[in-house]
Amino acid sequence: MALLQILHYPDPRLHTVAQPVTTVDDTLRRLIADMAETMYAAPGIGLAATQVNHHVRLIVVDVSETKDNLLVFINPEVIWSDGLETMEEGCLSVPGIYDKVQRAERIRVRALNAQGQPFEMDADGLLAVCIQHEIDHLNGKVFVEYLSRLKQDRIRQKLKKQQRENM
Ligand code: NI
Repeated sequence: MALLQILHYPDPRLHTVAQPVTTVDDTLRRLIADMAETMYAAPGIGLAATQVNHHVRLIVVDVSETKDNLLVFINPEVIWSDGLETMEEGCLSVPGIYDKVQRAERIRVRALNAQGQPFEMDADGLLAVCIQHEIDHLNGKVFVEYLSRLKQDRIRQKLKKQQRENM
């Protein structure tokens, strides 16, 4: 397994729309294992393949306290949603920035698991928010795009400054 490099906003590659996975094989499972390791090491509660510059529809999530409940969603689709909820979000691609985003409160997601078998899962609370946030990444959308233009400009400037200082 290997740690993968996480792209940081405003990297334009974060706006790539990911392609559907056509074959669930050992190559994909290696990517899943590397993404899980990268997410746990960060540490984070979710990671989309887009964030590690692999533009396929794959996300990993673990919102458990004990970090032992890895969920893998290949070609995830929200097939039902209900209610609205506002939660403070952060993102491994936007380090140090947290802000409130409104999303569906409850969702049903359909996906393939790491064996390529279809499943459906109902989610609410933090898990529902996290899955929606990660699916956004696959569509090339970063959570700061829900914020005002002014806030987005400030965040972009702050992160560019951080990146210059880290060079
Ligand atoms: Ni994110």
